[in-house]
Amino acid sequence: MAVKSSFHNRSIISIADMTKDDLLLVIKRAEEIKKKKPRHDLEGLVLATCFYEPSTRTRLSFESAMLRLGGDVIGFSDAQSTSAKKGESLHDSMRVIGQYADVIVLRHPMDGAARCACEATSTPVINAGDGSNQHPTQTLLDLFTIKECQGKLTRLHIAFVGDLKHGRTVHSLALACALFDIRLFFVSTNQLSLPDDICHALRKKGVKFSFHQSIEEVLGKVDILYMTRIQKERFDSDLSSDENALMLSNPSALSKAKKNLKVLHPLPRLKEIDVSIDTTPYAYYFEQAENGLYVRQALLSLILKGGK
Ligand code: CP
Repeated sequence: MAVKSSFHNRSIISIADMTKDDLLLVIKRAEEIKKKKPRHDLEGLVLATCFYEPSTRTRLSFESAMLRLGGDVIGFSDAQSTSAKKGESLHDSMRVIGQYADVIVLRHPMDGAARCACEATSTPVINAGDGSNQHPTQTLLDLFTIKECQGKLTRLHIAFVGDLKHGRTVHSLALACALFDIRLFFVSTNQLSLPDDICHALRKKGVKFSFHQSIEEVLGKVDILYMTRIQKERFDSDLSSDENALMLSNPSALSKAKKNLKVLHPLPRLKEIDVSIDTTPYAYYFEQAENGLYVRQALLSLILKGGK
């Protein structure tokens, strides 16, 4: 009999619910999948992608992952075309969709939406981003990518740059870094700095971290520069002029970088990484986006089929 993993039939809501072994298991499975084409072992199973917010990478890489594993996909990318428009609650929608699918991938603008969804259905729910809160599958692909480009996951220095207040990818990844003895540098304006609850959680876990105002302050010390977009859709006030210090406007901005530095970004990018950076040896964000496919194949396979 096949051994079931800790992921079998499990919802993925927050990185805080996952152990170091959980993270390493997904990474190992994704590495195997990237090296050789995975088997069609999800035939007859259905993934529902329920996207109440826009997405390119997360939705399409999940759908591609399921199709490449032989499974089928249903879902929506515009909640206005669903009964949410008529006022149906998230709870009722998830309860019903859970009867049509074997696993649900949910993106929603409300913090905590994925947790609510998994209380409505016994079908596993994967959080594909809930408001400013968490984006755990992005973290899995970020960790996979960091290991791939640095050859290790421990004793690294990572700088998070940009909108650290609203960036759910930052919140999830920072918490995961606590499991790997990684030193963190947070680079933002005061207006966009890391929320207190995340700082508190990092302090409790003994993570070393510091706050900075510009990329220049930290560039020579870090192995990963994790850039993020300013999420204007999540706040009303005007931006300050200090944001220039949070941008890579041309390759000379990286002239003092360590040789092994890699620039990551969950994407989409706006002005924070100029296209001229793309051809430097530091750019690794498109490889990072590709890795989303392998990591999501690994996750779907572990949730739906188990196995070590
Ligand atoms: N990184 C990420 O979540 O991208 P999308 O918003 O395009 O899914």
